[in-house]
Amino acid sequence: MQPTPCDAPATTSGCTSRRSLPEALEDAADAARLAPSVHDTQPWRLVLHADRLELHADRTRQLLTLDPVGRALAESVGAALFNARVALAAAGWAAAAEPVPDPEDPDLLAILRPVEGRPDPELAALAPAVAERHTNRRAFVEDEMPDDLMRHLARGVACEGAELIPVVHERHRQLVARLTQQADGSQNADPAYRAELRSWTTKPPSTGDGVPPAVVPHVDGRQHDDVPLRDFDSTGAGALPAEAHSTSAQTLVLLATPRDDQAAWVGAGRPWSACCSS
Ligand SMILES: Cc1cc2nc3c(=O)[nH]c(=O)nc-3n(C[C@H](O)[C@H](O)[C@H](O)COP(=O)(O)O)c2cc1C
Repeated sequence: MQPTPCDAPATTSGCTSRRSLPEALEDAADAARLAPSVHDTQPWRLVLHADRLELHADRTRQLLTLDPVGRALAESVGAALFNARVALAAAGWAAAAEPVPDPEDPDLLAILRPVEGRPDPELAALAPAVAERHTNRRAFVEDEMPDDLMRHLARGVACEGAELIPVVHERHRQLVARLTQQADGSQNADPAYRAELRSWTTKPPSTGDGVPPAVVPHVDGRQHDDVPLRDFDSTGAGALPAEAHSTSAQTLVLLATPRDDQAAWVGAGRPWSACCSS
C-alpha cells in the first residue's frame, strides 16, 4: 500500500510520516486563532513551548459588562482549543488535551500536548473547515434540521462533557422565545452593555478585532423577530438583510454544562470531538 503523505490530513493508519513537532504545534496555534469568539474579542493568549501549546485567558479582552464572570471568554478559549486539536490531528499527531484548573495560574485554561498514537481521523477530517467556518447571520430558513444530524451533534457535544438539548415542545419553545426577548430587552436597556458592544463593532479593520458591519443584519427598528438575535448594528451600517426570520418554529437547541465553572465552560466551547468515534 502507498504510504499516506502526512502533510495531508492523517486520516488513515497507513501514514508513515507526519509534520515535525514544532510545525504541528505552529499549525495548532494558527488554527486556534481562527476560532469563533464572543464579539470576536479573541480573548486568548497562545504560548508555544517545544512540547506543547498552552491556551491562556487574556483578561484584557474580557467583556466586563456582558461577561463579568468570564463564561463566554472561557467558551471562546474552548473553541480555540478545539481548532488546535483539529490541526494537530491533521498534522498527524495524537493529542492529550485537558483543561487544567490550577489555583496558582487560574488563567491557564488548557494545555495541548502532542503524544504518540494514532491521530483522531474524525478530528483531522475537519481541518479544511477551520479556515472556511464563519458565523452566519443571514435569514433562517423554515426547514428543521434532520433528526440524524441532530443526534450526531448531540453525541459530539456529549463527548466534550456538555449537553445539547433540543427544545421540542411548543410550550418550551414559547418559553425560550420569551426568555430570549427578556434577556435581549434587559441587555439593550443597559447603556454600559451598548457602549461595550459599540466598541467591539467599530474597531478599525486593520486590528482584525470585533464584528464589522459587513457581517451583521441592518437593523431598522421595524423587525420584531420572535427569537431576537443580538443586535450588532451599532452604527446602522449593517450590510446583511434586516429580516432574520428567527422564529420559535425553527430548530431550537440549548447548550448546557453539568457544572457552572470554568472547566465546564471551556468544554462548552468545544462543539465537537471524535472521542466516541472508535
Ligand atoms: C461564546 C460565544 C458567544 C457568541 N455569541 C454570539 C451572539 O450572541 N450573536 C452572534 O451573532 N454571534 C455570536 N457569536 C459569534 C461571534 O460573534 C463570532 O464568532 C465572531 O464575531 C467571529 O466571527 P466568525 O465566527 O465569523 O469567525 C458568539 C461566539 C462565541 C464563541
